[in-house]
Amino acid sequence: MKIDHVGVAVRSIEEALPFYRDSLGLELTHREEVPSQSVRVAFLGAPGQAQVELLEPTGESGAVARFLAAKGPGMHHLAFHAGDLSSAVERLSASGRRALEAPRPGARGHRVCFLHPKDCGGVLVEVVG
Ligand code: CO
Repeated sequence: MKIDHVGVAVRSIEEALPFYRDSLGLELTHREEVPSQSVRVAFLGAPGQAQVELLEPTGESGAVARFLAAKGPGMHHLAFHAGDLSSAVERLSASGRRALEAPRPGARGHRVCFLHPKDCGGVLVEVVG
């Protein structure tokens, strides 16, 4: 697998963009709303390379909203790209890394699956298919 993106929880994408896009000079490659995760996202980076994913909650109830309420803005998850999501998740769970839920639709038309941070050295890991 390779690193696909690093997820960063923010209260406002608009307020975070000047740092990532203007100060760091990352290209804004994609924006979308992901209703299944109650977030709006923006991806920045060189096209085809590892990205930064800014995650802004769209309501009070999603996982990112709860993360912000508990910890404030900051690094949220590390995402790896797998060619075949189902077999990657199967392999990982066989080695004791529990999936938080079944693979589901994520951003950019991919299917994604999050793994329990307690099984991944304290890091919330997303596998992207
Ligand atoms: Co992500």
